[in-house]
Amino acid sequence: MNEKLIVTSKEDGYAIVQFNRPDVLNAINMEAMTELVDALEALDKDDDVRCIILTGNEKAFAAGADIKEMADASAMEMLKRDQFARWDRIRKVKKPIVAAVSGFALGGGCELMMTCDIVIASETARIGQPEINIGVMPGAGGTQRLTRAVGKVKAMEMVLTGSMISADEALRWGLVNRVVPVEYVLEEAKNLAREIASKPPVAVRLAKEAVLKSFDTTIEGGLEFERKNFYMLFASDDQKEGMKAFVEKRKATWKGK
Ligand code: CAA
Repeated sequence: MNEKLIVTSKEDGYAIVQFNRPDVLNAINMEAMTELVDALEALDKDDDVRCIILTGNEKAFAAGADIKEMADASAMEMLKRDQFARWDRIRKVKKPIVAAVSGFALGGGCELMMTCDIVIASETARIGQPEINIGVMPGAGGTQRLTRAVGKVKAMEMVLTGSMISADEALRWGLVNRVVPVEYVLEEAKNLAREIASKPPVAVRLAKEAVLKSFDTTIEGGLEFERKNFYMLFASDDQKEGMKAFVEKRKATWKGK
């Protein structure tokens, strides 16, 4: 039996999803992407899981789409494969995804990192969109998400030169939440996952949805969406419990409904 390219484990309230192609710096081939999307969708439906950590290893989060798998493809084959379309399904995962990033996060690896909701980077992280160096350009969100995250001029420099940035630069540019020593990156992601897992899940879900909405709507549309999600939470037991617990000066117990 082939070894799995994506390894999943569950801990208390959260799950860890890890790339398992160390020999090729976790380059993402179509099989790995299928396994990844399937794993994320299964965890999204799993009531025991309230937050998901996505990670690689010390050398690489992921060094991009698998170049060897694409090298000889014709445009028609690429169009027929439409391999990046399945990446869109990650955007539809409702539970928060925390990326724990060490080493290379390049091309599709950087794009995947940016699809995650929160990013913990280790000091060793090297982040970039180097596709220009192999005769192409970002194809899974790099020109769009990077530009929204860091602004036009920085995105333009990264995409047109293919140069990598350090973890500290990524922090200054707002591409990652924090930078920690490499040996703590997973621990820090776990702390965050545990914290998110301790919050009322319906509110977490609707809050994530509302933040993401800001990327593809006008300010009015987004404010309206946010307001409706806020009102909708008053249909949840957790809203009643959360506000009652505040008034009674005790800790709330969440039911997740
Ligand atoms: N695809 C396939 N194989 C890859 C790979 C990739 N993206 N990145 C690394 N590998 C493989 C190498 O071919 C090598 O395999 P072999 O041992 O069989 O030769 C192995 O991983 C180790 O890599 P290196 O020997 O190159 O390691 P290094 O430390 O010298 O360099 C690196 C590391 C700078 C990350 C270099 O490997 C590199 O430049 N990789 C390619 C990065 C890249 O261009 N990514 C974008 C891909 S296209 C894309 O992602 C499109 C999109 O928008 C989705």
